[in-house]
Formats: sequence, C-alpha cells, structure tokens
Amino acid sequence: MTPASQKATNVTWQEGLVSRQDRYQILRQKGATIWFTGLSGSGKSTIAIALERALFRRGKLSYRLDGDNVRLGINKNLGFSEADRTENIRRIGEVAKLFGDAGTISLSAFISPYAADRDEVRRLHEDADLRFVFGLGASPPTEAERRDPKGLYKRARAGEIRNFTGIDDPYEAPANPEIHLRTDRLTVKEEVSAIIGYLERHGIIESGQPDESPSRAGGSVSAERAERGGSAGDAERSADLGDSERRAATGDAG
Ligand code: ADX
Repeated sequence: MTPASQKATNVTWQEGLVSRQDRYQILRQKGATIWFTGLSGSGKSTIAIALERALFRRGKLSYRLDGDNVRLGINKNLGFSEADRTENIRRIGEVAKLFGDAGTISLSAFISPYAADRDEVRRLHEDADLRFVFGLGASPPTEAERRDPKGLYKRARAGEIRNFTGIDDPYEAPANPEIHLRTDRLTVKEEVSAIIGYLERHGIIESGQPDESPSRAGGSVSAERAERGGSAGDAERSADLGDSERRAATGDAG
C-alpha cells in the first residue's frame, strides 16, 4: 500500500516552550519504541506484558499498545483487509512516535504483517530522532497454531474467519529484526532479561537492578495480583504461554 498522503492544507507545525529533553529530564528516561511483530499466538503480547512489568520494576515508564486493545478503541473502525491493516499500523506508528516524544517507552504488539508498513513506522521514528527496535515473535507458525490461545486458527481453518494471517492472509517476516524472540525455546523470563540486556547495551535504558519502590508505594495492584496468580488476564496469558516452561526465548540478534 502507498503511505497516507497529507490531506489538510494550510497547516503548520506549532512549537511549544517545553522541549523533548525537558520531558525526558522530568521522567529520567528517554522515549523509545519496541515493536513486536509476528503471527497471532506467537507470544508478542505475553512478552510485552512481562517486559512492561520488568521496566516498571526498574522505575521506567512504558506503555503497551496491543493489537486487540487498540482495535477496541482508536482503531475500532478498521478490519483486516490489506488497506485496513496498513492504516492500523500507520496510526499506531504515529501514536508510538507521540509516546516516544512524550518520554514513554512504548511496547507495540501488532501482527503488522507487511514489511512496507513496518519500514514506514521505523522511518517515521528515525526521522523524528527516536529509538526504534524490532522484535520478531518467531514461534514457528505450526506452534502458534498449535497454541491457538483464542481459538481463532481453528475457526479460520473451519472457514468461519476469512483473511486470517498465516491461514489465508500473508505474513512477511522482517529480514533483520534487532531481537529474535525464540518463543519455542526460552521461558518468558529469559526472553525478558535478554530484551532488557539489549536495551541496556544499546543505551535505551541505563543498566541497573530492579527497583521495588514503585510497587511498595502501592503503584501496581494489578501486577501484584497477577504475580499472586489472580488477574483477569491470567487465563489468556497462560493459554498464550502454552507449556510455559519451555516456551518463549530471545536470541539477541543485535
Ligand atoms: S494487524 O495485522 O493489523 O497488525 P493486529 O495485531 O492489529 O493485526 O490484530 C490482530 C489480532 O486480531 C489477532 O491477535 C487476533 O486476536 C485478531 N484477529 C481477528 N481477525 C483476524 C484476522 N483475520 N487476521 C489476524 N488477526 C485477527
């Protein structure tokens, strides 16, 4: 698909009196986008959830942008045609860029099946001088379908869902992802520490130990509940994990 073109005329960029660096200073971090791509059921969302928690424990503000969630809100008017998927990724790329400019580390988990759309999001970030990292949810297609956490592959095979990625719709894997998530070999914990290591080595976050202070201050009721094993997301999370002890996995390609 061709990238969206500028429609409105007579519009100009308005500068403010608070700079990006000012915002980064308040937050004591830099904005960045970690973008996970991969088939449905490849573990993108699970890893983004665990990574968000790990960053929180280090006192880093991140925010998950997740395919299903975003499609229930800002992108509720988009379906799964090629044009709609392109627009889905374009809008989220712009949202992630705004988050990065604001100082947040966004964790975007979208199938984002088309290379051209993903390249466009990377270009958008690079043009804005924002760090951007691709993680590929590289669980083999057969494994994603075997896990089928939402039962969607089964329905697609039965012809109840059309244009389902990996069944009758394409997925173009990135040639050189910075992070390769081997979701069939490592545990989620191992993957997350490999990603954190990558972010530290590349100066996206500074090296350091987890900081318990945010949750001690009462900041994360949901995470504490999840760690005790009782959050609403657990059923989906463990379904997504499949045999969680063997799954996940990050080989750092960067
Ligand atoms: S993308 O292709 O536009 O990047 P996105 O990540 O937002 O997709 O949404 C994918 C999610 O929508 C899947 O995880 C799945 O839960 C759901 N879904 C529903 N229909 C489809 C479909 N036809 N193809 C892929 N995912 C679908």
